[in-house]
Amino acid sequence: MQQRSIVTKIADLMAVANDCFLMAVPFEPEPLPGQFVMISFGDGRTDPFLPRPISIFDWDDGMLTLLIRVVGRGTLLMARQAVGMPVRVTGPLGNSFPDESGSVCFIGGGIGIAPLYYAAKRSTAQDKRFILGFRSAEQSYLTDDYLKIATAHFVSDDGSLGDKLFPHQKLDALAKSGEKPDLVITCGPEKMMAAVHEVAKKHGIRDHHSLESRMGCGIGACLGCRVQMPGASVLVCKEGPIFDGSIFEEKK
Ligand SMILES: Cc1cc2nc3c(=O)[nH]c(=O)nc-3n(C[C@H](O)[C@H](O)[C@H](O)COP(=O)(O)OP(=O)(O)OC[C@H]3O[C@@H](n4cnc5c(N)ncnc54)[C@H](O)[C@@H]3O)c2cc1C
Ligand code: FES
Repeated sequence: MQQRSIVTKIADLMAVANDCFLMAVPFEPEPLPGQFVMISFGDGRTDPFLPRPISIFDWDDGMLTLLIRVVGRGTLLMARQAVGMPVRVTGPLGNSFPDESGSVCFIGGGIGIAPLYYAAKRSTAQDKRFILGFRSAEQSYLTDDYLKIATAHFVSDDGSLGDKLFPHQKLDALAKSGEKPDLVITCGPEKMMAAVHEVAKKHGIRDHHSLESRMGCGIGACLGCRVQMPGASVLVCKEGPIFDGSIFEEKK
């Protein structure tokens, strides 16, 4: 797919939680679900020096929306931008989630829910549902928006939102009650994705996961995003960010 690096202007900026915000920018071409962009400031400043990788939260008629959690300096400075300010966007980058016509369960933890909105929206599956995990109701966001796309099961660490379960436990419960999906797609903490893989394997469900790593270039040039997984050593930006569940299987 054609990639571009353009300076575009922030069209909308909206806080959705204490530490999370949505940023909308005009951007073409249309990305595939699971792809990401590299974003940086468009005013020529060199601090922070490197662009940051952010998933496609949504894309609609030339408008790209990103869901960003503030974790450090780059994302904090981005949150302090204003509508009309210039940002550089490079992408779309990376591979995409597989499509499936049967049933798909999209499982996300924390900010890992970001790529699942567009993935579920674009999915052609007959039955699609989310399992979305947050620490608590207070630390959850955009739950109504996800409910507009598909059935959603919410789980939380303290039980203040949905069931007091981890996402992989909810998948296990659904599979045991006869609601076994054909495919699971996950994004979130690595431990959560590995636990989902174990449950998927137990029930014979295919699984694909979106991995994270620190990135420098996003296009396979700096080798900075290489991570050692149990199943392989991978360059997340070029070979991923989407990998099938074998990445969590110890190589024999
Ligand atoms: C393919 C991909 C898609 C992503 N999609 C999103 C998204 O949709 N929304 C979102 O909020 N974030 C996303 N991230 C994570 C995001 O890129 C980082 O949070 C961001 O780069 C942090 O920049 P910073 O300058 O604020 O933090 P820094 O000051 O660089 O780091 C702050 C802290 O965060 C940790 N950290 C930074 N980057 C990463 C990373 N990539 N993985 C794990 N830990 C990290 C650092 O170790 C440090 O502890 C994605 C990452 C990848 C690789
Ligand atoms: S980020 Fe540079 S090679 Fe992946």
